[in-house]
Amino acid sequence: MNTLFVGQNLITLESVDSTNTFLLDSSNTEKLVEGTVVYAKRQIKGRGQRDNLWISEGEKSFCVSVLFYPKIELSYQFTFNKCIALALVSSFNILGVKSFIKWPNDILVNDKKIAGVLIENSVRDKKLQKSIVGIGINANNNCSDIENAISLKEVFKNEIDIKVLLSTLCHELEKYYLLFRSDKKQIQELYNSLLYKKDSRVNFSKNGNLFTAVVKEVDNLGRLVLVEEGQEKAYSMGELRFNFS
Ligand code: BTN
Repeated sequence: MNTLFVGQNLITLESVDSTNTFLLDSSNTEKLVEGTVVYAKRQIKGRGQRDNLWISEGEKSFCVSVLFYPKIELSYQFTFNKCIALALVSSFNILGVKSFIKWPNDILVNDKKIAGVLIENSVRDKKLQKSIVGIGINANNNCSDIENAISLKEVFKNEIDIKVLLSTLCHELEKYYLLFRSDKKQIQELYNSLLYKKDSRVNFSKNGNLFTAVVKEVDNLGRLVLVEEGQEKAYSMGELRFNFS
């Protein structure tokens, strides 16, 4: 496919509560093509994972939501999430910065969060029919007051061109979505090769109990596989936390 379908239908908003909510509502009331992108200059009530708020700094933060109709078995749901994380890492690579994926899909640069992803799915007939992929990138905003966060501007010591960021991201989303459709094994392998702290011993906490384990990989179901005293154990999302302190 030569023509990009991601971003071909681009809806630009001056201001919105949440691009995810806007795209979810719009896609429920009108037929939007796959790859529709909603980009907001200002997002005032951004939503993050685990019901957290996602705070943006006017036009300096980068907020988009992208519409996909994956129509895949639910067992591939997390592999789809992996292709989104890979598209982000690849975009940052193209822009000149090396990043890693902190399970499940935070993107880190220099151990600090530079981007977050909120994927909201609609399921019917045991298939993932529609997916709203919300992406927040610390672009030209100031993160110095936020713990464990960094922006592209702070990395490059220069403002980033938002149009370049948007077109690079659309291109890489399309590339990795097509790869996901054709070669899921490669998506798994690439994701694991970019996994934050892979093969390193890390402190974790589970139900308030601290333990250390070596990060091995993320399996096809999206569980983090750790090695503790020679034994492999897979943990689901929400079951444990990285503990850096
Ligand atoms: C996270 O908690 O790490 C996920 C943050 C996702 C934020 C983005 S910004 C664009 C889109 N719209 C939202 O309301 N949230 C996502």
